[in-house]
Amino acid sequence: MNHDFAIVILAAGLGTRMKSRQAKVLHRAGGKTLIELVTSTAVRLVPPERVYVVIGHQGGLVRQVLEGSGVRFVEQTEQLGTGHAIASGRGCLDASGKRLLVLYGDCPLVTPGTLEALMRRHVESGAAATVLTTTLENPSGYGRILRGSSGAVQAIVEEKAATPEQKSIREINSGMYCFETAPLFEALAALRPDNPAKEYYLTDVIAGMVGRGLKVEACHTAESSEVLGINTRVELAAVDAVLRSREVRRLMLEGVTIQKPETVIIDAGVSVGEDTVVEPFVQVLGRCRIAANCWIRAHSIISDSVLGEGVVVEPFSIIQESEVQRGARIGPFARLRAGNIVGAEARVGNFVELKKTAFGARSKAMHLAYLGDAAVGADVNVGAGTITCNYDGTAKHPTVIDDGAFVGSNSTLVAPLQVGSGAYVAAGSVLTENVPAEALGIARCRQTNKPGWAAKRKKKTG
Ligand code: UD1
Ligand code: MG
Repeated sequence: MNHDFAIVILAAGLGTRMKSRQAKVLHRAGGKTLIELVTSTAVRLVPPERVYVVIGHQGGLVRQVLEGSGVRFVEQTEQLGTGHAIASGRGCLDASGKRLLVLYGDCPLVTPGTLEALMRRHVESGAAATVLTTTLENPSGYGRILRGSSGAVQAIVEEKAATPEQKSIREINSGMYCFETAPLFEALAALRPDNPAKEYYLTDVIAGMVGRGLKVEACHTAESSEVLGINTRVELAAVDAVLRSREVRRLMLEGVTIQKPETVIIDAGVSVGEDTVVEPFVQVLGRCRIAANCWIRAHSIISDSVLGEGVVVEPFSIIQESEVQRGARIGPFARLRAGNIVGAEARVGNFVELKKTAFGARSKAMHLAYLGDAAVGADVNVGAGTITCNYDGTAKHPTVIDDGAFVGSNSTLVAPLQVGSGAYVAAGSVLTENVPAEALGIARCRQTNKPGWAAKRKKKTG
């Protein structure tokens, strides 16, 4: 059935009520832009080359976020209303198929199942148009469905144009419709912007079609939460909450313990293994894979990273674009900036920052260190306060610390530099030269003690 349909998504508006410089469909809910969410639903119903996105405001950016999706674009150069938006695509939509499913880019919660029911109803009833409607406790802001005495749909009236009596109607227009393509474009050609907003309303084609004796159907859904449209940031937050709760629910059903799930933010598409525990206020963002039996403690933020089995992330740690292998322990208050690989059973403790660093199996950096552009072998001990000086103001340089080396506390390793395997670096050293394997490197002033110095000073100062 779906092969008769092309889908058009309206996404050209600025979204004045968002009070934003950014086009509305580029705002994010559940970690994705609204246009990505709607488009991903559309491509589950028809092949991407049958999905047309109408773009206008920041159209270049909308194209960018949908790059690689295979959908097509239609430009609406002036935003003169939802009817005008579809009419802008006449050239290609006319030829795209017998039927159109119209979606709005600001209604991202609808599921493919609900849209399939709408399409089925449209095809089976033989209507020229079928509107997806629902009944809301508070319908304000939405177009209201006007039905005649027989119950048949007569028209949609927008809030701005509605009489007080019409405003009391609670059945609303979801903004999702099926149309037979040919009669739709005939009705669009007859639209006039004679409303308070001076726009060409797509909703007016309903009365136009009824007036010409065409059959118009309403398909009422009980799933009213699916039709929530985003016009303001308040609705954006409501939609975000729905998407977040869908995601944590999915993971809980797959065997992940999530404490206080209403505080946890997990992006769609993240995978988490069984018996992993996620504590309150954790965020897992972007493309993350977290294996089984991990323990992600409170307030940690993990993005675009891979965690092996049994990894523990202590509270308030940040892990970005990194891999943490089996049984490693990170934090509390650790920061893994981009491009790190932390080996199995390794420990990265509090106030330790890693950047582009490979940190070997069972190695430890427990306190207050910075390791950047470093290759640290296995079983290395990095003392508290160790710093790799990887940047000379112009270029970055590597530091290599081989297997089993011991770097004493408060050492400064001026890169490029290599500490050989099994070598020791004396605490407080400022190393500018390599330390050979099994050697001790000391680079600091020798201490001198002056006996009786304090008494002499007291005598002098009285
Ligand atoms: C619209 C419907 C309303 C419905 C509601 C559901 C109309 C006239 N009204 O109102 O009946 O209850 O959605 O959420 O259709 N757009 C364009 N080009 C334009 C104007 C808008 O592409 O010239 C796009 C917007 O980017 C947006 C969508 O169309 O994604 C809907 O526009 P919006 O202004 O949000 O319409 P609503 O006032 O919400
Ligand atoms: Mg809207």
